[in-house]
Amino acid sequence: MLEAKLEELRRATLAAFTDAFSLEELEESRIEALGRKGTLAQITKDFGKLPPEERSRLGKLLNSVKQDLEGEYERKKLQFEQADLAERLSKEWIDVTLPAPNPRPGNLHPVTQLQGEIEDLFTSLGFAVLYGPEVETEEHNFDALNIPATHPARDMQDTFWLGDGLLLRTHTSPVQVRGMRELRPPLRMIAPGRVFRNEEVDASHEHTFYQVEGMMIDRDVSVANLIYFMKTLLSDIFKREVTVRLRPGYFPFVEPGFELDIRCLICNGDGCPVCKHSGWVELLPCGLVHPNVLRLSGIDPDEWGGFAFGLGLTRLAMMRYGIDDIRQLQGGDLRFLCQF
Ligand code: PHE
Repeated sequence: MLEAKLEELRRATLAAFTDAFSLEELEESRIEALGRKGTLAQITKDFGKLPPEERSRLGKLLNSVKQDLEGEYERKKLQFEQADLAERLSKEWIDVTLPAPNPRPGNLHPVTQLQGEIEDLFTSLGFAVLYGPEVETEEHNFDALNIPATHPARDMQDTFWLGDGLLLRTHTSPVQVRGMRELRPPLRMIAPGRVFRNEEVDASHEHTFYQVEGMMIDRDVSVANLIYFMKTLLSDIFKREVTVRLRPGYFPFVEPGFELDIRCLICNGDGCPVCKHSGWVELLPCGLVHPNVLRLSGIDPDEWGGFAFGLGLTRLAMMRYGIDDIRQLQGGDLRFLCQF
């Protein structure tokens, strides 16, 4: 009687396993047959009451039924899992050879690129790089640079005054003053940065532009040193030998003061619209530091001397890249800026 029930359980459950369509159905059949309250448990409930030899005979049968069912269950389950995996593998896949969506690389502003190159060059020549504040005191921007209160640079038309003796710096030269007072001679420094002038904006004038100030103070500094550093700077930037000339120029903080011109790189000096047919382009105001300027920062002009220059970074970028309208540099038009 029990024997027949066990055989029937084996047959019916194996058939149910075979018919199962899914892992869930398989699992249901397993619980029905082998679960804690399943058929097998029912059948064996009264096993204990059987006489010993019958118990051992039926026990063997019971174990073989159990083993068969569990074995078949595991085999079937594995089949389902593999089929499931195969299906997922065929559906979920990525073609790693497809071209990636193009992330657009950013790039530095042409003026920033040029600034970086100039900083690298001067660092390699032993110059410190200083950055002064854009909001300056009248003292740093004018007085300490030997610019008297009557100088036209102080005029309402040129300077953005902020009140309380503060202003937007009109040049990077106030960083000379900060450099002299902080570093003490001998010193070599450059100061790149943004400067502001109350200008009518047109193709060649902006209210906001960039300069790089430079200063070297030591014993026995001469115009020859100045020319050497300026030529090194310009051939490094333009990647070729440049011809320079000095003309006298007036700036209250240098004596003598010069305008340094370079032979026009567009026409090689033959004359073209860029150099206004003169063959020369004005690029670099410079000179030997005025004794008053040294004195005003507590440096003895009998012991120390130096040169200073104020490179027009914006104009240099325009020359190098052939940009003919200064307004494009700050216009924020990415179509323009991404060309560099
Ligand atoms: N600061 C001057 C200007 O902006 C340029 C300059 C700097 C001239 C250093 C001489 C020496 O016009």
